[in-house]
Amino acid sequence: MANPLDVFRDDALAGHVAVITGGGTGICKGIAAAYARLGCEVCITSRKQDVIDATAAELRAATGKDVLAVAADVRDPDAVARVIEAARARFGKIDTLVNGAAGNFLAPAAALSPNAFRTVVDIDLIGSFHAARAAFPSLRDAGDGLIVNVTATLHYHGTPLQLHASAAKAGVDAMTRNLAVEWGGAGIRVVSIAPGPIGDTEGMRRLAPGDAAARAAKAIPLGRFGLIDEIAAAAVYLRSAAAAYITGTVLVVDGGHCVAQPMMMTP
Ligand code: COA
Repeated sequence: MANPLDVFRDDALAGHVAVITGGGTGICKGIAAAYARLGCEVCITSRKQDVIDATAAELRAATGKDVLAVAADVRDPDAVARVIEAARARFGKIDTLVNGAAGNFLAPAAALSPNAFRTVVDIDLIGSFHAARAAFPSLRDAGDGLIVNVTATLHYHGTPLQLHASAAKAGVDAMTRNLAVEWGGAGIRVVSIAPGPIGDTEGMRRLAPGDAAARAAKAIPLGRFGLIDEIAAAAVYLRSAAAAYITGTVLVVDGGHCVAQPMMMTP
């Protein structure tokens, strides 16, 4: 199978500058790698400086780009503002924010502690707000600002053991629509990407441990988990001029998983 990123010109994102939360690992590391590979300046952030230092070193070696790594917990608005400021100081502007920092685990709703529910909402929803708020002046000044919120498809149905994450991601999708309306006049597009089950990620290791992954793949119309680069390709497309009229919506990248319904009766 060809790499989905090969369809893009090598300089497809030259001149852009992106801050990517959660960019140390998983899907958002993949987005950071794709953006840097295609010429974008990239700043990654997560809670652990050693993790993002290692990722930045890997991406520098692979792409030759000056990838910046600044640690922050997205739950801390001041720390997030420092990341935005550091990226703007290093690269002169920011025109793209990818909100990817997220936390999740499987837990029955009745067993969720108030702090457990709050923690996931704090990271996913309120953390995304903190970053969007801090980035707004830079995105406006850039003239063609973009926020990509990495959400999920969990909340399109009632997903067992995922009340906390479903509530958080539903909130982020609501924020996508609201900010698209409020900030469209400032030249800022806001779009969610909703990945389905993606292989080789911390999320899938946590949410589909053991043979649950193989069983889950059977429920996907395309019959397989997605690739991190297939989500990265969606994020590249949204940053490209090809998506200049797209805002306020959700781009689902899930192999048809969320529209599939098990048959009620077998023939
Ligand atoms: N089941 C139920 N509750 C859980 C839990 C689980 N598997 N994991 C954590 N919690 C609860 C904790 O018990 C705590 O609640 P309490 O104070 O009432 O006991 C609350 O969630 C916060 O957990 P804590 O570990 O103190 O918070 P943290 O900020 O260090 O961790 C998490 C954040 C909870 C999201 C943690 O799972 C994490 O850091 N994950 C790594 C990132 C990740 O999840 N990646 C996957 C992305 S899809």
